[in-house]
Amino acid sequence: MTLVDEPLWYKDAVVYQAHVRAFLDTTGDGVGDFPGLMRKLDYVKSLGVTAIWILPFYPSPLKDDGYDISNYQNVHPAYGTLREFRAFLDAAHARGLRVITELVINHTSDQHPWFDAARRAKPGSNKRDFYVWSDTDTRYPDVRIIFSDTEHSNWSWDPIAGQYYWHRFFHHQPDLNFDNPQVRKVVARVMRFWLDMGVDGMRLDAVPYLIERDGTQCANLPETHAVLRELRAELDAKYKNRMFLAEANLWPSDVIQYFGNGENECHMAFHFPLMPRLFMALRQGDRHPISEILSQTPEIPSTCQWAIFLRNHDELTLEMVTDEERDYMHQAYAHDPQMRINGGIRRRLAPMMENNRQRIELMNALLLSLPGTPVLYYGDEIGMGDNVYLGDRNGVRTPMQWTPDRNGGFSMADPARLYAPVIMDPVYGYQAVNVEAQERLPFSLLNWMRRMIALRQQHRVFGRGGIDILRPENRPIFSFVRTLDGEAPVLVVANLASTVQPVTLDLSNYTGRTPVEMTGGTTLPPITTAPYFLTLAPYGFYWLRLETGAR
Ligand code: NOJ
Repeated sequence: MTLVDEPLWYKDAVVYQAHVRAFLDTTGDGVGDFPGLMRKLDYVKSLGVTAIWILPFYPSPLKDDGYDISNYQNVHPAYGTLREFRAFLDAAHARGLRVITELVINHTSDQHPWFDAARRAKPGSNKRDFYVWSDTDTRYPDVRIIFSDTEHSNWSWDPIAGQYYWHRFFHHQPDLNFDNPQVRKVVARVMRFWLDMGVDGMRLDAVPYLIERDGTQCANLPETHAVLRELRAELDAKYKNRMFLAEANLWPSDVIQYFGNGENECHMAFHFPLMPRLFMALRQGDRHPISEILSQTPEIPSTCQWAIFLRNHDELTLEMVTDEERDYMHQAYAHDPQMRINGGIRRRLAPMMENNRQRIELMNALLLSLPGTPVLYYGDEIGMGDNVYLGDRNGVRTPMQWTPDRNGGFSMADPARLYAPVIMDPVYGYQAVNVEAQERLPFSLLNWMRRMIALRQQHRVFGRGGIDILRPENRPIFSFVRTLDGEAPVLVVANLASTVQPVTLDLSNYTGRTPVEMTGGTTLPPITTAPYFLTLAPYGFYWLRLETGAR
């Protein structure tokens, strides 16, 4: 099998987010590696996903789990070699899986040779100007601090340079200076290095922050978009069927700038504000947070696509909610302060759902049917737990649980040697939650996820269609219709409440069509001009294909 020649492949994709470090250790050193990830590609493929996004795997001091890069054109020795990366890439492609990697260009590690050269170079020289320096730490006072739990300023003093350097994230991650044409040149070279190798997509980490300007918040500046357009022009000139995915944690009306005119910036962008609202709506048993953010989400160019997700490797960010909503989310999902970081929530999906299977299924059913390309976080397909006692965001980055054997089948190393302990508690521990056990049961979460992904993939309307939000009187019911020319519409009805709920829907636009329940194929009564009545179980949902003609 090879990759289909389809420039818009990302619109029909389901993405699996994995961490090389956390997947499978084949060398016994306690750290996952590329041969391990490669060995598990059949598993990834068996989920029905079409792309795999891997977290940074480059040489790095790993103080920010690899987002602190010290060499852009190699593989971290603990994860393998470039040759092994290539073998992994080819093996993924041979299975029809696209590979998305990280282009982390806002900052480097302070261990990067560029930074070492910069701090020693003459002030004002090209080498020094690879980074952003100042004699004071008072410039750009309006800029907020992202890692507010650990950093107190976006400036840090460098005694070697005798100046302050600028960093949007950790102090060991100096920001590159994109006003320096030389920086833009080397960054483009890094991009080409991985694209030449055959990488299909690149997540552009922290992309709003590339440029700094006085009197601004140093985010989303016109000059930042100019840099993106340069990179995109190079991508389009030299490569086919590749994709840029913007990580910009902003309101949808601001994120759309990153799509440019649909042809000249990013193909995809994460829809950040939707995610906490899914959790909020579920807890409140009220659709309002979801329907509101969706109605505030503008149309995007037809070549572009949202990336939607429930959880990822970071904390569940609450930047895009009000203070009251944040308090509510903390109370509802992170009562123990240990569960919080930088204002967000460092937990996985299953524990946030209190391991309630109906809730987990409902959240995934929404993820798989709302507009956008779903991104699944490794381990969530089996309901893995977290470890909130590990520092930073490491509690959601623990080893994948394959079997009930030693270290959950992740590694043969002594348990003490693992890069992070495997989850071991009685509910989510590897003896209770693992792939091997769930493979055996047709109704395990894993097999349920496979069926739902497969179902989604049979209907292009999910990836490509529009959305028509219905507003029935009963607010625990969230319902919408996905529509695409030439395909039967799909009606989704979801009950966000923990109790049975009735609903009457105005489906008069679809009069004459017959709803067919998609997971079991049952035909429901045809739609007439009268209100359409349904009853839903607690946290229940329906995916109904609205077919024409008598059945
Ligand atoms: C965004 C990444 O998702 C996060 O994990 C990282 O810490 C920051 N960028 C800084 O690189």
